Amino acid sequence: MGALLCSDCSHAPEDVPAQPMSDSRGASRPVAPSGASKFLLQVKLFQRLPETELPTLASACEPKTFRSGDKVITEGDVGDAFYIIRSGDASVSVGGKEVAVLKQGDYFGENALLRDEPRTASIVAKSELQTYMISRTKFEEMGLREKLDFPQRKAVAGGAIKELEVKPPSPKTAEERKLMVQALRNNQNLQSCVSLDDKQVAVLVDAAWKETVPIGKELIKEGDLNADYFYIVQSGKFSISVTQTESQAQSANAAQAAAQSLGIVSAGGSFGELALLYFAPRAASVRAVQDSVVWVIDRKTFKSTLAKSAQDTVKDYVGYLDKVQVLAKLKPDEKEAVAKALTEMSFSKSEDVFQQGEAGDAFYILVEGEVAVIKDSTEQTRLKASGKEAPMFGERALLTKEPRIATITVTSETAKALVMDKETFEMILQPLDELNKRGKDAPSAVKKEPAVRPNTGSQKRFGNIERKHLKQLGLLGCGGFGAVELVEHVENGNTYALKALSKGYVVKSGMQQSVMSEKNVQLMCDSPFIVKLFETYNGSQTLYFLLELALGGELYATYNKKGLFGKEPHAKFYLAGVTHAFEHLHSKKIVFRDLKPENLLLNEHGKVKLTDMGLAKVIIGKTYTTCGTPDYFAPELIASTGHTHAVDWWTAGILLFELLSGHPPFESAYPMQIYQKVTKGIHKVAFPPKCRGPAEDLVRCLCKKDPSERLPMKKGGVANIKKHMFYKGFDWQAFQDLTMEPPYKPQVKSKKDMCNFHARKDDLPPQVPYKEDGTGWDKDFATST
Ligand code: ADE
Repeated sequence: MGALLCSDCSHAPEDVPAQPMSDSRGASRPVAPSGASKFLLQVKLFQRLPETELPTLASACEPKTFRSGDKVITEGDVGDAFYIIRSGDASVSVGGKEVAVLKQGDYFGENALLRDEPRTASIVAKSELQTYMISRTKFEEMGLREKLDFPQRKAVAGGAIKELEVKPPSPKTAEERKLMVQALRNNQNLQSCVSLDDKQVAVLVDAAWKETVPIGKELIKEGDLNADYFYIVQSGKFSISVTQTESQAQSANAAQAAAQSLGIVSAGGSFGELALLYFAPRAASVRAVQDSVVWVIDRKTFKSTLAKSAQDTVKDYVGYLDKVQVLAKLKPDEKEAVAKALTEMSFSKSEDVFQQGEAGDAFYILVEGEVAVIKDSTEQTRLKASGKEAPMFGERALLTKEPRIATITVTSETAKALVMDKETFEMILQPLDELNKRGKDAPSAVKKEPAVRPNTGSQKRFGNIERKHLKQLGLLGCGGFGAVELVEHVENGNTYALKALSKGYVVKSGMQQSVMSEKNVQLMCDSPFIVKLFETYNGSQTLYFLLELALGGELYATYNKKGLFGKEPHAKFYLAGVTHAFEHLHSKKIVFRDLKPENLLLNEHGKVKLTDMGLAKVIIGKTYTTCGTPDYFAPELIASTGHTHAVDWWTAGILLFELLSGHPPFESAYPMQIYQKVTKGIHKVAFPPKCRGPAEDLVRCLCKKDPSERLPMKKGGVANIKKHMFYKGFDWQAFQDLTMEPPYKPQVKSKKDMCNFHARKDDLPPQVPYKEDGTGWDKDFATST
C-alpha cells in the first residue's frame, strides 16, 4: 500500500461526472476524466511511465463507490487492484488496530498492479467513499506494465578510502558514562541489529568525545555525505525532520511513514546509528532546538570494536594450532594467518566428516559436538569438543593427499569444525613440506594480498581491442558509478558493452581501491554465467571496462515488465545460473556480495549472466566491510562481525524468494527496519503460496542465520543445491552445457538492438574533473590502449 499522506488535493479529480466509454470487450463502462492524468502522475509507480501514456492510464480508471463501513481491501488477501480516493475518508488498520486515516487524494495498492501480494493492511470506508480503481487486468491489457521503467535498487558501498575525522576521547564523569551506556542500550535500532556486550559498550563510551551544539545549528543535514558519526544527547534538545518528497511519502506505507515523522530527542536519547553500519547519505536532518551537548562515536571505532571479538577468536584458534604437530615449525604470524583463514563447517548427527580410504584434502578442528573415529568398521575412540578441548583430525592432509586412515562420524546432534584445506593453506603461505624444510632464519611466508591470477586461458585474452576502434551506438544503462554504452568495433562489427567511470568521481568517493579490485576480479573470471571482461582502458578522465554484451535486458526489468514473478521454471533457471556463477567465483576465493535481479542480465538467447563486480573481492577467511544492497544483506553483515563467501548463499535464498514472491522477504522502506527483520530471521517470514513447498525449504536452507549452516557451506558443497528437492528433474548437465532451452526468450532483432534497455540520461552519475594526484592508483588499470 502506498498512502500519499501529505497529498496536494488540488490534483485530485473531484466532482467530475464519469463518462461512459467502451472497454476492450465492448462493454460500456464509466471512465475517469482526463484531469485525472495530472493527479495520477503523483503516484510513484506511474511516474515510471512515459508521460505520453497518461491519457491511456486515466482511461483505465474505473469509478467505484463504497458505503460507510464497507471493506475496500482486507489484510492478508491477495490484491489485484489499485485505488485513489476521490472523496470521503477511509480507515487503515493493521492487525485490527487503526494506524492511519486516508483522505481525498490518498491512494493505496499500487503494488497490486504488478504482482500478487497479500495486502498489508485493511481499508474500510469511514464515510461514503468515492474512488477510482485500476485493475491489474486492465493495466496489463493496455500494455502499461510493459512501458514502465524499473529503477534499480542501489547498493551501499563501504569500501571508501575516505579518512573520517576521529577526535581524541573527552574525559567523562561517572554520571556521563552511565547516561551513555543507557543511551546505547536504549537505542532500539542499534540493539536489534548488533549485539554489544558490556565490554564493547565500555570501549565505545571510552572513545566518545564531547561537542557543544548551539541552538539552531543543524548537526546532521538530510542527504549529507559526511555521515560517519552517531550522537548521544548529554543535554539540550534536537528536532529530527525528514523532507518527505512526495515519492518518498508514497513509497512508505502509512504505519511506516508515521514512525518517520518529526520527533524530538532530548538528554539520554541518541541518533545517527545507520552511520555506524556503513557509509550512506543521511536520511534525516537534526537541528539543535536548545543549546546542547552531545557525545560523538565514529564508525571506525564502532566497527573495530565489533571486529575485536573476531580477533579474540583468532587468538583462540592460534592456541588450537599450537597443538598441531605438523604445524610446529610455523612462525607466530604464519599461524595467525592460518587461524584467520579457518572456515567453520556444520555437521548433523551420523554425517561423516570424511571416510576411510578417501583422499584427504583438509584438516579439521572440532569446536562443538562429538565424533567417533571408526577404522575398518570398528569404533576406535570418540573425540569431544569442550570449552577447553578442541580435538583435531586429518592434519596430514596438509602435507600429502594420502588416503584417510579412518572414518570420522558425528555422534552428537550437531557438530561444528574449523576447516583448512591444502589449497587455501598454500594460497596464504607455501606448501607445508617446503615450510618445514626451511632454515631458522627464513623470512615469514605470509603473503600480503591473496594471489590474483588473471584467467588468460590458452589464447591471448587481453590487449586485442583498441578503444579507438570502438564506435558508440547508444546508452544501455546507468549504474551507481558509471554509464554503460553499446559500442561497435568499426573493423569487424562486433558489439560490446562499454562501462565508463569518471576518474574524478571515483577519487571524490574514495573508491580507487574498489575499482582496481573490480578490474582484478573481472580478470580472474572465465565463466559462461558471468559477463566477460574483454579489455580495460585508462583515459585521461575516464576508466573503461569493455564487457560482454547481454542484449536481452536486465532480469529485474524483465520480471517486472513480463510479469514473471512466481513462475517456478524461470526461478529454477536463473538461480541455476547464479549457482554456477558463485561456484566459479568461490573457487577463486572471490565473494560477490551484490546479488539481486538488477545484477543479472539476459543475453539474446535468454541465457543468464551475473554482472557488476563493484563489490566483489578476493578473500581468504573473513572480511569486515558492510556493503551490498539492504534487501539482500545477510545477518552477519549487519552484525559487522566479519563475513565470508557464505553471504552469497544467503543472497541466493533472498533472490529465490523474490523471484517467486515478487518482493524480497525482509522488505521495508527504511533500511533499519529491514535489518531488524533480517536479524529476527527467516523463520518469522510468512511465505506466500507461490513460494511454498520445496522452494520454501530451499530458501530456508540458504537463509540460515549461522553462515556455516547454509546449504552449500555444508559437506557436499554446491552439489547440495543441485540435489535439493526444488531441482527435482532439472537437467543440471544440460544447463551447464548451455543446451537447456531458456524459459523466456527476449526479443532481440540484431546485435545492435537496444529495445530491451531504457536508460535515462538524467540517471547518469556526475562527471567530476580529474587531475592526476601523483599516487598512481590507476597505473595498472588498462589492458589495452
Ligand atoms: N554487459 C555488461 N553490462 C551490460 C549492460 N548494462 N547491458 C548490456 N550488456 C551488458
